[in-house]
Amino acid sequence: RKRIGILTSGGDCAGLNAAIRAVVYRAMGTYGWEVLGIRQATLGLLANPPQVMPLEIEKVDALLTAGGTMLGTTNKGDPFAYPMPDGSLCDRSEEIISNYHQLGLDALIGIGGDGSAAILRRLAQQGNINLVAIPKTIDNDVGVTEHSIGFDTAVNTATEALDRLHFTAASHSRVIILEVMGRDAGHIAISAGIAGGADIILIPEITYTIDQVCHKIKERQEQGKNYCLAIVSEAVRTEDGESVMNTNRLGQSRYGGIGQYLADEICHRSGAETRVTVLGHIQRGGTPSPLERVTAAAFGVAAVDLIAEEKYDRMVTWQNRQVVSVPISDAIAQYRAVDPDGTLVRTARGLGICLGD
Ligand code: F6P
Repeated sequence: RKRIGILTSGGDCAGLNAAIRAVVYRAMGTYGWEVLGIRQATLGLLANPPQVMPLEIEKVDALLTAGGTMLGTTNKGDPFAYPMPDGSLCDRSEEIISNYHQLGLDALIGIGGDGSAAILRRLAQQGNINLVAIPKTIDNDVGVTEHSIGFDTAVNTATEALDRLHFTAASHSRVIILEVMGRDAGHIAISAGIAGGADIILIPEITYTIDQVCHKIKERQEQGKNYCLAIVSEAVRTEDGESVMNTNRLGQSRYGGIGQYLADEICHRSGAETRVTVLGHIQRGGTPSPLERVTAAAFGVAAVDLIAEEKYDRMVTWQNRQVVSVPISDAIAQYRAVDPDGTLVRTARGLGICLGD
């Protein structure tokens, strides 16, 4: 009878609870193992005593539709560079490893993006931890998998926002800019932009000029279209590399910078009336979409099966309509941004959407 741990790490998103539920169903229901939920990513293993909760099927039953993560999470949990009160960084990895073994865990399932996977893998190698990873990121930039938990719901939410903005933009003859997340990659913006009928899609992978953006607005006006919708990824850049980044790695004021900057520039140059909506964490919260639940369930079951087969240091991924596992090192190495020559960019161009270049 195995005892396994599970944690969620990095930014939360929809579908994490559905994955936790699937792990518990499979591990307890099929194999009769014990499952310990570790609170707040690796922070739960840094606490004394460790912050863990035994999970039961009854406890996770209602989790399928719940947003967030019942275990809590953090994106400040790098135990190799743990911030101390005096501002210094301290390596606390050995405390985590020791607590993992003291809890009598046979294996650990870590749900996170590439950053979390890298940290967990380093811990696993240093401390002889049997690790299996499940990919989650609304940014969908883990290259080894077609879907990561969180992406589909984020796209649905951003698309719904565009659907709503159409009406108000048209009613007031305005240019409305929807700013979405995507720290380094524009997957949310390009997918939601196509799905939601945006006229302009700006992504970090394609540098934009404000001239092209204004040209599109003018073109629409000349076609008798009185409004314009733009979706903009938080990390877009101009051709000369100028970037109005919202993201501040010190954790200070974030989001809302680029959208407002563009709105001001467009208004200044074209005279159009502009408004901005920053979708922010709305795209991370909420009920997981049906596809998200399917992905989470499939990943959860497959992760437990890997442990049953004692195949460790692997990540479950979605490839060619099925779940397959790959070495976690591949997942860390294969970052995937939007392909500027790929299908979605070609589709957007084919629809006459302005990509800013
Ligand atoms: O990595 C996912 C992501 O949603 C990014 O798109 C965004 O920049 C970041 O997380 C926001 O993280 P937080 O607000 O939790 O620090």
